[in-house]
Amino acid sequence: MTTVERWMGALRTRTLAFISIVLAVAVVAAACGGGGGTTAQAGGGISPELVTDYIHTVLEADRTAYTRHVVNRAQVLEGQTKEDGVVPVEATEGWQQTDGIPLPAQMFRLGSEIANEAGYFTYNLISPWYINDSQAPKSGFEETAMAEVIETGEPYKDYQEVGNQQFFSAVYPDVAVAEACVSCHNQHPVHLERYPDKQFEMGEVMGGVVINIPMTGA
Ligand code: HEC
Repeated sequence: MTTVERWMGALRTRTLAFISIVLAVAVVAAACGGGGGTTAQAGGGISPELVTDYIHTVLEADRTAYTRHVVNRAQVLEGQTKEDGVVPVEATEGWQQTDGIPLPAQMFRLGSEIANEAGYFTYNLISPWYINDSQAPKSGFEETAMAEVIETGEPYKDYQEVGNQQFFSAVYPDVAVAEACVSCHNQHPVHLERYPDKQFEMGEVMGGVVINIPMTGA
């Protein structure tokens, strides 16, 4: 090997090492880009559609786990004794006054109130047949989205502007998956008073889960 060949070899090795470092830095920059703030970036790494799908998956999983593994083990559900209950407690809307435990929808709202304080994104339950006034569809977007979701049974996603801030918002169907959803809502005194003609059926869309992600650079 001549001196020139050795020199060329060393240069090639160094060039390769340099390119690897540049690539590594670029990948790290791409991975970190847009992730540090409290808002999502349009055209950034992950589409906002996917972000709301991820969040919704976690929300549904937590609600189902709470229903299945906590509420289902309670011996009493809203005044009615449950045969398969093993824990001497009542799951009831008036849980704070009666030393009971919250219903799944209340647990969901309690969680959302804490999460919404963090300021990254917001989520909540809505329904045109709401028992709790704070869960009525509020904006034009929520009314349109809710009507579409009830009609199609599919999620509805779009951008909306609220007070100069652009959001990506998604509404996911909340379906009567258990007989208890239907019977509890249909017999609820507020429901009977407000919607005497509305009786939910199994498999029906009873409301929606709304997720709002603030966007930058809109
Ligand atoms: C034992 C009674 C009970 C059961 C079972 C129940 N709910 Fe509810 N649900 C309520 C009450 C009470 C509220 C209002 C709670 C609050 O203050 O946030 C509510 C709230 C909701 C809301 C928000 C709109 C509103 O009415 O304020 C939706 C949507 C909803 N429930 C869907 C369901 C579905 C779907 C199921 C079954 C998977 C279910 N519920 C099971 C009692 C019940």
